[in-house]
Amino acid sequence: MPTITYILKDGSARSIDARTGASVMETAIHHNVRGIDAECGGSCSCATCHVYVADDFIDRLPPPDDMEDELLDGVASERLPGSRLSCQLTVTPELDGLTVRVPETQV
Ligand code: FES
Repeated sequence: MPTITYILKDGSARSIDARTGASVMETAIHHNVRGIDAECGGSCSCATCHVYVADDFIDRLPPPDDMEDELLDGVASERLPGSRLSCQLTVTPELDGLTVRVPETQV
């Protein structure tokens, strides 16, 4: 199982064995990772699943589509190069070791 590490607002880290095919958001919700709210349930319409992907994984992910890109312009915390909506990131074996940081605020 690929391991995804979430860096929480307080700086602590949680590493979770993720199910292939689940999204990074779903993995967080199922394991009670604080700070990923996912109010729309993964339909790419709320932007409360915003995360910052670690630099070394940015280019290993498929780029955001137009809808995700548009929503990222309206996230509550600053948009950075690693900003992604975690509901749009599907866990694959190649993402083993992915680290994402939870932003300061989602609302
Ligand atoms: S869960 Fe709403 S946009 Fe990702």
